[in-house]
Amino acid sequence: MFFSPGVKKAHHFYPGGLFDHILSTTNIAISITFQLEKIYGYHVDFDAVIAASFLHDIMKPVTYKLEELDKNSSLGYYLDHLTLSVMKLFQEGFPLKVIHAVAANHGEPGPTRPETIEAMIVRLSDYIDSKLNGNILRKA
Ligand SMILES: [Fe+2]
Ligand SMILES: [Fe+2]
Repeated sequence: MFFSPGVKKAHHFYPGGLFDHILSTTNIAISITFQLEKIYGYHVDFDAVIAASFLHDIMKPVTYKLEELDKNSSLGYYLDHLTLSVMKLFQEGFPLKVIHAVAANHGEPGPTRPETIEAMIVRLSDYIDSKLNGNILRKA
């Protein structure tokens, strides 16, 4: 987990990139939650947001080949990290609200649409952080 890169040849593609991505996504999600509650007066399940943003890419490291991080492991060849992460959280008995927010975090191209405010926050935070690292910091 700590040494894993983020996305192959895209954002956070360096050793430890996944951990940076998880920390940054979680911090962004916390900020969005505060804005929604303090400025717009929405009630957000803070625990679900924290859990889902922290765990949303939990199975990504096992999809990479350890010696060649830009290649899939045999598990990663057959199953993507989103499917594996959802399976893992389901197996561990996480609340459905958290599992939904993880399942929906790839947005439109993903298998599940975000239906809750918590899932939308996690989706948006993941997207913002991927752009922050993939485009904005690269240009700076
Ligand atoms: Fe992901
Ligand atoms: Fe992510």
